[in-house]
Amino acid sequence: MTTPRLDIPCWEHLPRPDLHGSTVVLTGGSDGIGREAALRLAHWGARLVLPVRTRHKGEAVAARLRRETGREDAATLTDLDLADLDRVRSGAAEIKEATADTGIDLLVHVAGGVTRRREETVQGFEWMTGVNALAPVLLTELLLPAVRGRVVITASAAHHFGRLDGDDPHFRTGGWSFTAGYGRSKLLAMLWGLDLSERLRAVGSPVDVQLVHPGWVLTNLQNATGSVRLDALLTGATRPLAMPAARGAESVLVAATQPLPAASYVGPDGPRALRGDPTLLPRSAEAADVRLAARTHAWMRAELDLQA
Ligand SMILES: NC(=O)c1ccc[n+]([C@@H]2O[C@H](COP(=O)([O-])OP(=O)(O)OC[C@H]3O[C@@H](n4cnc5c(N)ncnc54)[C@H](OP(=O)(O)O)[C@@H]3O)[C@@H](O)[C@H]2O)c1
Repeated sequence: MTTPRLDIPCWEHLPRPDLHGSTVVLTGGSDGIGREAALRLAHWGARLVLPVRTRHKGEAVAARLRRETGREDAATLTDLDLADLDRVRSGAAEIKEATADTGIDLLVHVAGGVTRRREETVQGFEWMTGVNALAPVLLTELLLPAVRGRVVITASAAHHFGRLDGDDPHFRTGGWSFTAGYGRSKLLAMLWGLDLSERLRAVGSPVDVQLVHPGWVLTNLQNATGSVRLDALLTGATRPLAMPAARGAESVLVAATQPLPAASYVGPDGPRALRGDPTLLPRSAEAADVRLAARTHAWMRAELDLQA
């Protein structure tokens, strides 16, 4: 898979889209990159539906969106916990209700996380595989009939070090580490996005799929050592190097709003894609393998008891 050049290389000069009349469903809007993306999208006129895990954080973001835009319809909150498929199903039902009159122009997956030891979701998936990859597949499947425009998937350059293991996809017999788990979950997200794009194109759907790596971004994702002091030390040490959340959101915003080839992978243009302005990035050979993507997506659907 070759990486076409992004025609508008300078983010600063991209025309700001007019999203008045558009409905955007965005996960992860309660914090970090998702909160910054939600703010910009609302300022550009979108009506945001924010499925959140932590209600009080979501309420604060929704209040800010309404206050800053002066629009009561700038944000609607719904509940979602990606670590429990029952709550993904009930969350999808809430989103459908909230978008029944409008449909969904954009479905933007930003929510995700890490664990520092092997943990499991309610259904017994390795936590990062469950939350960062499998649950978004189910949520998308349930919402897709209402989506008119685009699905955006926040993956990561961490997919480059992800390895699949068909015999032990959830690290039940060993091999788990933070990087192995996170890398695998993001490789799964990349492969799912690629195959979803292929499937939609094959049936002539107007919906396209875009993939994102936000860069190295200073958010709560770093605060997972289990020690508040160590988290603060690490944050202090990395502050001059990593980008603020608003800069990380820029790649999400380009993937969400700009004309792009199907299944593009957008991220920062600096060295090792750690920081910089959004551009099209190359992905790993595995993440570009359409046959592997089809097999992997089929496996993910089987894990979720979805029809092949
Ligand atoms: N930061 C980076 O350097 C970086 C680099 C590459 C990719 N990414 C990706 O960017 C995305 C956003 O991360 P971030 O850096 O903004 O981290 P963050 O500040 O920790 O935000 C994560 C968001 O995901 C939500 N979330 C986590 N677990 C959830 C669950 N089980 N159910 C529903 N929502 C859940 C969080 O909700 P709560 O408010 O309830 O916690 C929060 O809104 C993630 O997919 C991450 O993997 C980040």
